[in-house]
Amino acid sequence: MSVRILGIESSCDETAAAVVVDGREILSSVVSSQTDIHRKYGGVVPELASREHLRQIVPVVREALEKAGLVFGDLDAIGVTQGPGLVGALLVGVTYAKALAIELGKPLVGVNHLEGHVHAVLLEAHRAGLKPELPAVCLIVSGGHTLLYEVTGKSNGADSDATLLYKRLGGTRDDAAGEAYDKVARLLGLGYPGGPIIDQLAEQGSEAGVGAKSPVDAENNLRFGPTKMSGNALDFSFSGVKTAVLYHLREHPDLNAEIEARREALAAGRRSAAQLRPLCSQHTLNLISSFQRKVVHELVSRSLAAASQCGVKTILVSGGVAANRELRTTFEAEARQGISVFFPSRELSTDNAAMIAAAAFARFSNGERAGSDLDATPSLPLGGAS
Ligand code: KG4
Ligand code: ZN
Repeated sequence: MSVRILGIESSCDETAAAVVVDGREILSSVVSSQTDIHRKYGGVVPELASREHLRQIVPVVREALEKAGLVFGDLDAIGVTQGPGLVGALLVGVTYAKALAIELGKPLVGVNHLEGHVHAVLLEAHRAGLKPELPAVCLIVSGGHTLLYEVTGKSNGADSDATLLYKRLGGTRDDAAGEAYDKVARLLGLGYPGGPIIDQLAEQGSEAGVGAKSPVDAENNLRFGPTKMSGNALDFSFSGVKTAVLYHLREHPDLNAEIEARREALAAGRRSAAQLRPLCSQHTLNLISSFQRKVVHELVSRSLAAASQCGVKTILVSGGVAANRELRTTFEAEARQGISVFFPSRELSTDNAAMIAAAAFARFSNGERAGSDLDATPSLPLGGAS
């Protein structure tokens, strides 16, 4: 008999609900994004996020059920993000899910948001009839996280009902990669969120850094040297990359006028790559391209080092930054060297509730049930420490 799970996600700035059957068939996936609300602050404002989740949670869940063609009574269980995330935001989803579970007399499963991101990749693979080999290395890369895990299962293929085990291999010591995208976009007058716009504009920058050890554009003297860190070689650091852009802009005041022009365009609602591209000099495009190449290089090289350290042949990549085209093509080039790399679709890369329902299915199948003491846990870890 198939299991229909309603997933609920509210850990950051997306209120989302989805209905997924057996952890692999998406009947509906509704995401209400708060980007327009947080845009003018250049990042997520926790109080505003909680308030908006409160407004959206009921209509979003209702829409997910309607799109799935179901009523509440048809559900077999409810899965909800328990953490990590913003406490006020998490509380909205957790409180609502608990109330719904009690009212309907349905089982409730608490889900780790990071495990949701792992299941986003598996969900996509299962939909395509693929079964990624385990153990694998998973890179979770978003606005809030940049983490590497080793993922193992009881069998060597990732089934949708498999209990997975996680070992943390490394993580960022300062900014998350998506945060670096957002901060650099803010410095350059490219709006919020920064990832999608930088992704599109980077293609038009200099190719000078391709294949080089550290991306360098000699013409504009843009240098992102190697990131030097002692300790765990699988840790990341992105604050230096952001600071390098800041210093470069200070050394080139001639770029101020175009930054100002772009800020004016943004204020007038002209935010697309097509609208901002004519306001970018080649110098700026090269800077964007070098920045992206450096971030991609950091992410790919450490993921490959992790795979080699663990002796695994599979890499799973998930989170908002996994939508990045250069990241995908760079990983895909590696795939030709004997590593299998799996990504979610763009919709499943960024925060959504289908991945929460899929993660809940695996735990539900293994008998896990949350009690009425389920609580929002802002720093919920995934697996053991490294
Ligand atoms: O997973 P997500 O939706 O939310 C968090 O949990 O953070 O990720 C959002 C982040 C933002 O920082 C955004 O700039 C980044 O993902 N992002 C991208 C791309 N699309 C979104 N970064 C690089 N390239 C993209 N195409
Ligand atoms: Zn996320």
